[in-house]
Amino acid sequence: MSISLHTLLTQLWEEVLETPVAPDDDFFALGGDSIKAARIMNRLQDEMNAIFHPASIFAAPTVNELSAYCLNHYPAIFAQKALTTTAQMVTDAQIASAKEHLQQRNVAEDLQINTTEPNNRQAIFILCPPRSGSTLLRVMLAGSPALFSPPELYLLSFNTLQQRREHFSGPLKFFREGLLRALMELKQHTYSQAEILLDELEQQGISTKKLYGLMQEWAGQRRIIDKTPGYAFNPTSLQRAETEFTEALFIHLVRHPMATIRSFEEIRVDLVTQDPTTDDLPLSPRQKGELWWLTGHCNILSFLQNVPANRQFRLHYEDLVVAPEQSIRPLCDFLNISFSTNLLEPYQEKQRRMTDGVTALGKTLGDQKFHTHQTINANAAERWRDHYQEDFLCDASWTLAQSLGYERESFTAQDETREEWEI
Ligand code: A3P
Repeated sequence: MSISLHTLLTQLWEEVLETPVAPDDDFFALGGDSIKAARIMNRLQDEMNAIFHPASIFAAPTVNELSAYCLNHYPAIFAQKALTTTAQMVTDAQIASAKEHLQQRNVAEDLQINTTEPNNRQAIFILCPPRSGSTLLRVMLAGSPALFSPPELYLLSFNTLQQRREHFSGPLKFFREGLLRALMELKQHTYSQAEILLDELEQQGISTKKLYGLMQEWAGQRRIIDKTPGYAFNPTSLQRAETEFTEALFIHLVRHPMATIRSFEEIRVDLVTQDPTTDDLPLSPRQKGELWWLTGHCNILSFLQNVPANRQFRLHYEDLVVAPEQSIRPLCDFLNISFSTNLLEPYQEKQRRMTDGVTALGKTLGDQKFHTHQTINANAAERWRDHYQEDFLCDASWTLAQSLGYERESFTAQDETREEWEI
């Protein structure tokens, strides 16, 4: 049986809000909040077998609006006649403008390097733009007893915890979840106990640097791995990792630009936040994906130029998924940890690896597609080739891709037509 998108959304809203819903009823007036928004979008995900973001309900808070929003932003999934896209290359002016915009994304306006408090001991940072395979890598590394590798912390982007709290509210509340999950594990707390602890720390006016110190104390012998892709967009966040820790180690995770862009387009990463100052660039999702990839890696490479070679390690996502053991062994040497087959089993020990998504909001953090795989999936490396038959990358992206070890290829132009989809 096929039902309209409008009917499906109404059903999901009524199920979660537990009240009848008319097409123009406001979600928040009916008692909706960020957790209920996450539950609705998780249900839509299950129904459509695609990824959606709670922030969309904040941008389109009635069934009528959300229906139009879905048709507009996800034509390949919802429209009866899917659009045929023509690729437009990004320009130098767009590259410069995206760099400027992304620098302000999910970061304190007055972000500074903290030189007043004592430095923290060594930590490990995974640096990459979103959709590079960072969730898989962090979960693999969480298999080592010598490491503590939680979901994204977003600490280096703010001076204090209070500042972080004020920024991550409303539609962005789910960004708080990674740190909460880390605190649960470090202190063996329930979710509510971790919330109380974080509230107290925020009220005490603690700096993010100081919290790292506390977390290191709680982690004991284990070294903390921070995988927060957002750091790649802000040079000050990156510099904090180098300046505020003793001999920090950096894993630069790279992935083919077209694979990263395909992943970005599919998930619509630009719709995660709906921040008009940084996300409202007049660009197609594909162009945005390219600019995020390019900006992220350019920032990381210029940052790493001033980090000694023995403290940085480049890892290709493609190698990680195609030959996991051969990729992880040298990484273990670099991190000075023992290799164990545990590292190759990211779907084991859900609680210890913090992949259990303890709340509806927690499920929306990091890579939702991690849970669509059952094992390290080698096929994911080249999957983008099924979708792109033309070369749309600008020269700057190709030059960067080549410097990261990817070959420039020629593509045979073909018509891009997509299948019709009915729900
Ligand atoms: P695709 O969207 O191309 O499938 P990140 O965590 O940095 O956002 O990266 C997300 C990418 O990692 C997604 O790429 C996702 O499928 C891929 N990934 C997650 N778990 C994986 C696994 N077990 N094997 C292979 N790739 C995986």
